[in-house]
Amino acid sequence: MKCDVLTLFPDILTACLNESILKRARDKKLLEVSLYNIRDFASGPHRTVDDSPYGGGAGMVFKPEPVFRALDFLKEDGAPRKVVLLSPQGKTFTQRTAEDYSREKQRFVFICGRYEGIDERVRTLVDEEVSIGDYVITGGELAALVIIDAVTRLVPGALGDEKSAEDESFSWGLLDYPHYTRPREFRGMKVPEVLVSGNHREIMLWRRKEALRKTVKVRPDLIDKVHLTDMDKKILKEIEEEQV
Ligand code: ADE
Repeated sequence: MKCDVLTLFPDILTACLNESILKRARDKKLLEVSLYNIRDFASGPHRTVDDSPYGGGAGMVFKPEPVFRALDFLKEDGAPRKVVLLSPQGKTFTQRTAEDYSREKQRFVFICGRYEGIDERVRTLVDEEVSIGDYVITGGELAALVIIDAVTRLVPGALGDEKSAEDESFSWGLLDYPHYTRPREFRGMKVPEVLVSGNHREIMLWRRKEALRKTVKVRPDLIDKVHLTDMDKKILKEIEEEQV
């Protein structure tokens, strides 16, 4: 994934981009992120980036000029870009969006909004408006990081362990099954026998069952969206019977 981020607070992103998997992905050139401070594109002695809203009301609105100028600057190299505005008004970002973005050949530009809103005319520059969920955070920076993180871990080689991605596609659309590591018994709590049995088919079935059990309990809405195999339907019946 290659992206440019337009923000007033580049340090928020720097902190996360310089740690763990994102840092390693950048070192391996699997992730390329360039940060631009929108204030650098503002004019006037104070480099003002916000102003009061026409029509009155509380709060400040992000001015259009600095964002337009920043995009004009980025477009100078002629490379095609997909411009994404982060805002609570956008389409909800999901794992499906992350997969689509991980296959995207164009460079991304993420515009991080702040204040009460952004001048509506900025939307003429935008290909997609994306929200990370139905809540309001203080700005688009954390949303951009969520997206960069979710997309990067889908890029082959980024996790360093390709089995993780394989396991995910096995349980795609369901919540994850429980995980255990040593010790085999901890404070009276034992690791389920099947996981130490060495029987790979039994382990696979147990994991699928536990993933289905957790999903039915916590996110029953997901069950309707996922493709259930005949085996899944049989397992779901078993789970139902266990409850009565
Ligand atoms: N900015 C403020 N809230 C947001 C959200 N939920 N998603 C993306 N950007 C935002």
